[in-house]
Amino acid sequence: MDAIEVIRAKRDGQELRPEQIDWVIDAYTRGEVAEEQMSALAMAIFLRGMTRAEVSRWTEAMLASGERLDFSELDRPTTDKHSTGGVGDKITLPLTPTVAACGAAVPQLSGRGLGHTGGTLDKLESIPGWRASLSTDEMRAVLSDTGGVICAAGGGLAPADRKLYALRDVTGTVESIPLIAASIMSKKLAEGTGALVLDVKAGSGAFMKDVDSARELARTMVGIGADHGVRTVALITDMSTPLGRQVGNALEVAESVEVLSGGGPADVVELTVALAREMLAAAGLTPGENGVKDPAEALADGSALAVWKRLVRAQGGDPDAPLPQAAERREVLAPASGTLTRLDAYQVGLAAWHLGAGRTRKEDAVSFGAGVTLHAKPGERVRAGEPLFTLHADDPARFERGARALEGAFDIADAGHEPRPLILDRIA
Ligand code: URA
Repeated sequence: MDAIEVIRAKRDGQELRPEQIDWVIDAYTRGEVAEEQMSALAMAIFLRGMTRAEVSRWTEAMLASGERLDFSELDRPTTDKHSTGGVGDKITLPLTPTVAACGAAVPQLSGRGLGHTGGTLDKLESIPGWRASLSTDEMRAVLSDTGGVICAAGGGLAPADRKLYALRDVTGTVESIPLIAASIMSKKLAEGTGALVLDVKAGSGAFMKDVDSARELARTMVGIGADHGVRTVALITDMSTPLGRQVGNALEVAESVEVLSGGGPADVVELTVALAREMLAAAGLTPGENGVKDPAEALADGSALAVWKRLVRAQGGDPDAPLPQAAERREVLAPASGTLTRLDAYQVGLAAWHLGAGRTRKEDAVSFGAGVTLHAKPGERVRAGEPLFTLHADDPARFERGARALEGAFDIADAGHEPRPLILDRIA
């Protein structure tokens, strides 16, 4: 077999045969298929698409390029969540201990942020002492002791995807639904979860800007999960406005702890509880039966918070230590009185990034204390001259760009506000 034959087949709109897919992924991972050949193939896939059978096989081949974890020896079922990423999306932090407190085990491999959306590991690393890198044995021990683990994916999981994603990033081929679906699912299937809930975001702050593309991505991923024997369900959720009232690493940890303590913003609580119920159902657990708690009860009675503290301690963190704060703060005042009718997720994410919460290149450090506090959410009343945002940064030189990113990010009007539901659809 050779790469040119595979590229020509896809270029001409043919369905790739399973043996062609297996060969090209394996040969690319070993360096036998050149980067320029894989970039031509990725572009042909971008333009021609893939059938369900091709996407499933592509995912299988990427999965086979590395190790696959197995937690089937645990005394409870495993279930996990993947979010396609959004602004203020800290849901993994309250969700993992909540689901663990209800009776399932959550092996959560997470990433770092790049660009305007934050990464779960960056948020957790703002907790003094907390460690993201665990060996597989350490991961297994934390999972079996606490019911949850959130850590960095090791280099051994789906190495073909790591190589291909870096190539897609510089060849204009990231935005291909089959390639995105295969990339995400190869990593999630490699982590060995028995059930998976996908939070596919739609809106300005998300990868998928409109609900129809989010649905198509969700359907493709749910199909891949089913083809691999992992019960997979997707919620399509709104990312036109940020989640919660805090955007930034330590700011989002503090907000997550509020949710785990039975408080916190209504949207973060709603999504945490909805995803937790889906994760339990996908794992075959029913609240009220065999000691399985309902997620809302686990948040209210302190059991989710207790698991959070154990989970943080198990990875070297001190859950009671003060979180880092930015050296400087500035307020942005509301220019008029009325109802906040729009607050754009992408622009708030960009502001947090300019303030130092995110990184431009993979090797950059993030500022743990930097970010944006939102004093109003869409539908709430604001008064002229009162704070609309608090900007947090270590370096005051960053305030100007942060504030500029927020110009035009919101509307204040006299008119009433039609709230957009948080959960837009469910795909199973
Ligand atoms: N996230 C991934 O892991 N892969 C993609 O292709 C896009 C987003």
